[in-house]
Amino acid sequence: MEKLELQKIFEDLTLKEKIYQLVQLSGEFFKSDTLAVGPQQKLGISQEVVDNVGSVFNIFGAEQLIRIQKEYLEKSRHKIPLLFMADIINGYKTTYPIPLALGCTWNPDLIKKGMQNTAEEAAVSGIHVTFSPMVDLVRDARWGRVMESTGEDTYLNCEFAKAFVEGYQGDLDPNKNIASCVKHFAAYGAPEGGREYNTVDMSERRLREDYLPAYKAAVDSGCELVMTSFNTVDGIPASGNKWLMRNVLREEWGFNGIIISDYAAIQELIAHGVAEDDRDAAKLGIEAGVDIDMKTPVYSNQLEGLVNDGVISEKLIDEAVWRILNLKNKLGLFENPYRGADVSKEKSVILSPEKLKLAREISRESIVLLENNGVLPISKDKKIAIIGPHGESKVLSGSWAINSNPDDVTSLVEAVKEKISEENLMYAKGCEMTEDNSILGGFGRAIEEEKIEVDKEKDLEEALKAASKSEVVVMALGEHYLQSGEGGSRTEISLEQAQVNLIEKVKELGKPIVLVLFNGRPLVLTNVVDKVDAIIEAWFPGTEGGRAVSDVLFGDYNPSGRLTMSFPRRVGQVPLHYNEFNTGRPVKTSIHNSRFTSRYIDVENTPLYPFGYGLSYTKFEYGDIKISSDKLTNNSTITASIKVKNVGDIAGYETVQLYIQDIKGSVVRPVKELKGFKKVKLESGEEQDIEFVINEEMLRFYTSSMEFKSEEGRFKLYIGSNSDELQEAEFELI
Ligand code: NOJ
Repeated sequence: MEKLELQKIFEDLTLKEKIYQLVQLSGEFFKSDTLAVGPQQKLGISQEVVDNVGSVFNIFGAEQLIRIQKEYLEKSRHKIPLLFMADIINGYKTTYPIPLALGCTWNPDLIKKGMQNTAEEAAVSGIHVTFSPMVDLVRDARWGRVMESTGEDTYLNCEFAKAFVEGYQGDLDPNKNIASCVKHFAAYGAPEGGREYNTVDMSERRLREDYLPAYKAAVDSGCELVMTSFNTVDGIPASGNKWLMRNVLREEWGFNGIIISDYAAIQELIAHGVAEDDRDAAKLGIEAGVDIDMKTPVYSNQLEGLVNDGVISEKLIDEAVWRILNLKNKLGLFENPYRGADVSKEKSVILSPEKLKLAREISRESIVLLENNGVLPISKDKKIAIIGPHGESKVLSGSWAINSNPDDVTSLVEAVKEKISEENLMYAKGCEMTEDNSILGGFGRAIEEEKIEVDKEKDLEEALKAASKSEVVVMALGEHYLQSGEGGSRTEISLEQAQVNLIEKVKELGKPIVLVLFNGRPLVLTNVVDKVDAIIEAWFPGTEGGRAVSDVLFGDYNPSGRLTMSFPRRVGQVPLHYNEFNTGRPVKTSIHNSRFTSRYIDVENTPLYPFGYGLSYTKFEYGDIKISSDKLTNNSTITASIKVKNVGDIAGYETVQLYIQDIKGSVVRPVKELKGFKKVKLESGEEQDIEFVINEEMLRFYTSSMEFKSEEGRFKLYIGSNSDELQEAEFELI
């Protein structure tokens, strides 16, 4: 629609009608088959609001969305279509591994393709906007939502933010693309103690340098919406934080899209203790710049009074409405309010063979081989026992795949059956996933599990019987899918005791054990690492995850995933991340004796598995770093190159990683920071020169005067296969 026409509609809206555009409700108001993700409550929303509301979230399916849009428009004075938004996080019906696993692919181009497919499935189902990507930087594995992030590194998160947004949005083709909403602005990934919804407090320097860049990368990639976070930022809840939204997001970054609150976050300004009541919360939210109030009556019931009483200017409402109308127009909804929704296309597009093929490829690349003493890959003629509750599980897509159907998932046992003869395969559950499912609580349409009577001894007996008949035992363990995700914070992040007992009992049989982990966070594996022969970190790998794991088990795929979050040795080490600051008393180089250095007395500082780590079925050897010059200027570049050789017998992917350390700055600088990477395939015996170009821009940071710039001096440059195994060189910025 022409801007002028849109302007006419806008000018004809009453104040009330404008305000209702700023309200988002969930599906139960539309007698829909809704998904209740989040706390349920009576809202005090009138029928008038429902009839005029601007957007709805988490209702799915072309047939239903077409009906709702039709009924809504029949009653609507201006025929402004509803916007349908949804949590489509790691796939829609075809699911991919959880985002933390997607990060482990170190392959943003591949993930972009996955999100293109996701957008197409969602578009033909009638969705217009996804609440993704979540680009929150994460360093604390206790926090359940680490599974939704691509990890602990700013540079990598920026690369993935871009890939997600470009994948979803493309050129906003109604049949293929949807708009993207980056979240949670800002710094939601740093709650104190790793406890969900808890306070975030950090210096502006750390916020700007580590946490904000990934949101900015999404905004710079054209992301249409930004979602505010639940937490505080410097004492002010993000959803009422003027500085964050008006100064940083709008003024500094030039963001013109829509800002939406997270679920009830504006009303929660009251519980935070910065708003007196709903009216006060509405004032804070709109003044701070939140355009859409998700799932509360705060905007719908309070903004009119605030305008009429002269407390806030109507201009604030106008700006927000205009942005919403513009997005509706940009998505083509005025021309076709049903947009891509098409019941027959749903059948051909969703879960199509090409989509499943890509899902399998992505799952395979996300799997990280943590340990292997040679037991892997397993030869297909071996007798295998799969033991563990994840063996036959079809709930392999993590807690956010709320709209996927477990029946579409291939379990590990089913997938292995596709490769080896049935008589060579045995399965036993061995134990329950958790001791007590009742602590997990419900989540969306997820299967709410009852407490079932279990016969632990019988389960164990069957497992040992199966294992004793086998030549290799594959143990499918990890976390229940509700032990991570929103509201999934934990203080213990090891395998549950029943699982450890099971491993110990199987170990007594003397059979080789391959531990396959399905989980949503880095786990503490210190107590099991010596009891098994190999560990495959499969995460929650999605629809084709069972097949992907099976490909890795039997060597049909040579594992290539690399961790994007450190795995602690003990939970007491978290928050843990490779790019930490040096202290005045570093363990290795301090002048003081060891007691008085920065360390724990009961465990090493280092992680069990570092950032960037992952094994392969082949081996790569690194030469020395060669640099084209050891002097860099503002106008020149340096090329650093290194020879990488595949010295094993089979082809494989290596992710060559570049890190830089600023040796001396006006403020303390990290011990190293990822500045580039190259994922290359090398045939057996093949050698390649891998090159990285280094320029001054890569060396910038927030200096003591809070200017974002580089400082002259010496830098260390590291290249290698993970953040801990690196070759070293030095150069100087002059
Ligand atoms: C709350 C979550 O924090 C957010 O990520 C999600 O998009 C909304 N609920 C809507 O379900």
